Amino acid sequence: MSNPFRESLLSRQAPETCTVVIFGATGDLTHRKLIPALYNLAEDGDLPPGLRVIGFARREKSDEAFRDELEKICREVSRQGVNDALWKNFSERVFYHQSEFQDEAGYRALGARLDTIDAESGSKPNRLYYVASAPEYFDDILLNLKKAGLSEAKPEGWSRVIVEKPFGKDLKSARALNEVVNGTFQEKDTYRIDHYLGKETAQNIMVLRFANAIFEPLWNSDHIDHVQITCAEDLGMEGGRGGYYDSSGALRDMVQNHLLQLLALVAMEPPTDLSADGVRDEKVKVFRSLRPIRGEDVAKYVVRGQYTAGSIKNREVVGYRQEDRVNPQSQTEAYVALNFFIDTWRWSNVPFYLRMGKRLAKKGTEISVHFKNPPQVLFNRESGQDDRNVLVMRIQPDEGISLRMLSKLPGAALKMEAVKMDFHYSTSFGKASPEAYERLLLDAMAGDATLFARRDEVENAWKFIDDIENAWHGGTPPPMAEYPAGSWGPPEADELLARSGRVWRRL
Ligand code: BG6
Repeated sequence: MSNPFRESLLSRQAPETCTVVIFGATGDLTHRKLIPALYNLAEDGDLPPGLRVIGFARREKSDEAFRDELEKICREVSRQGVNDALWKNFSERVFYHQSEFQDEAGYRALGARLDTIDAESGSKPNRLYYVASAPEYFDDILLNLKKAGLSEAKPEGWSRVIVEKPFGKDLKSARALNEVVNGTFQEKDTYRIDHYLGKETAQNIMVLRFANAIFEPLWNSDHIDHVQITCAEDLGMEGGRGGYYDSSGALRDMVQNHLLQLLALVAMEPPTDLSADGVRDEKVKVFRSLRPIRGEDVAKYVVRGQYTAGSIKNREVVGYRQEDRVNPQSQTEAYVALNFFIDTWRWSNVPFYLRMGKRLAKKGTEISVHFKNPPQVLFNRESGQDDRNVLVMRIQPDEGISLRMLSKLPGAALKMEAVKMDFHYSTSFGKASPEAYERLLLDAMAGDATLFARRDEVENAWKFIDDIENAWHGGTPPPMAEYPAGSWGPPEADELLARSGRVWRRL
């Protein structure tokens, strides 16, 4: 049965049958996200019939061994479990192709295999290449696809590419990668994935703002005091991630992409239409309007930190520098908090606060919009209470939206208390939201790039990040703050708000 929840926001075009070729097929992303996403789409009846998957990776492996390995993990992580008959049917269309990423012959052999599969099934030669390998192979994969003639669409078919993160590690490398991508595939066939854009609640930001009459008139500096975006994770460096993470850090790993994308949805102007470029034109304007934070301002407006040993859910955990594969003298941040401004008419002088950290007290991502106080007459005069209305969009977990307002306490005295109007996706719609990758894979099969980042978005986001990274790695870097694992981050991040009389919202 088709999932009604997904249907309401489904791409405007129908997804088409194709062969999905996944580069990096034995990696964690393929195992834990991509294959379970495809399987769940099949289970919901949303996967185009006849769709095939080819896993491309370096290790020797038979189709059967690949299928067995995928089944095992899918049984562990699939949100709907695994149905034996359905898995059999699904996995018969999953194949394994062994090749080095640098070996052009491997791509030619892949081409021959794709042709055979198309001929046998009688379907159109539609190909969706998913670059999910380690980032050092991205260029090799793209260039070899081109050399083997696979990036060019065949008559009657299409050829598209999804590129995973990290999309570069600074503006220079992102530009260089974009040159390779655009030299291989047309921009219209390029899908730079950011899985946060596939989360239901992220998509709901636009609906909340532009489909309701009550919010948009207030969505500006006349009525909004400030905006907070928090992404808290209780995880540390599990799964051997320490090596990658220590060369990246919180700012590059999460802020440049996921959190700035959420910010763009919150701050953008209404698009002229819902076409991919209509929406992305407005998002890129937000990135271009970010007031740069440079030089000495970085120490004033940005806090970076590392966790020390502590305890999470009654479990003792080590500090960041003691994590596996992390340099014991590391100067990489596992936490970052920023205060910045967006120089547009709408947001003139409205502070935005954003924080992201590993090993915080609990997992949760939310955006909170803090409205200005009403005139200080009548009830709130000298009340000493925080009277602000706060609209919270909970991205995960427990997706939903809440509005905080003041109400009179029952009784003869005129006392007020904050109350919450609360909407939970799970109770209102009766089932959990689909995984972000499900939606995004379907969109790419449908040729809808609205929820993928365009070249200029990625590059403008990097410009903002590069200024901060340059100050951190320049002559007199600001200090590294510390916080115990299991806490809510370093005190320096609280001070970032306290100096203007504000506080972080407690999740
Ligand atoms: C990834 C980051 O892109 O997103 C990880 O590399 C992070 O460090 C993850 O943990 C968070 O994704 P989610 O969907 O669990 O919030």
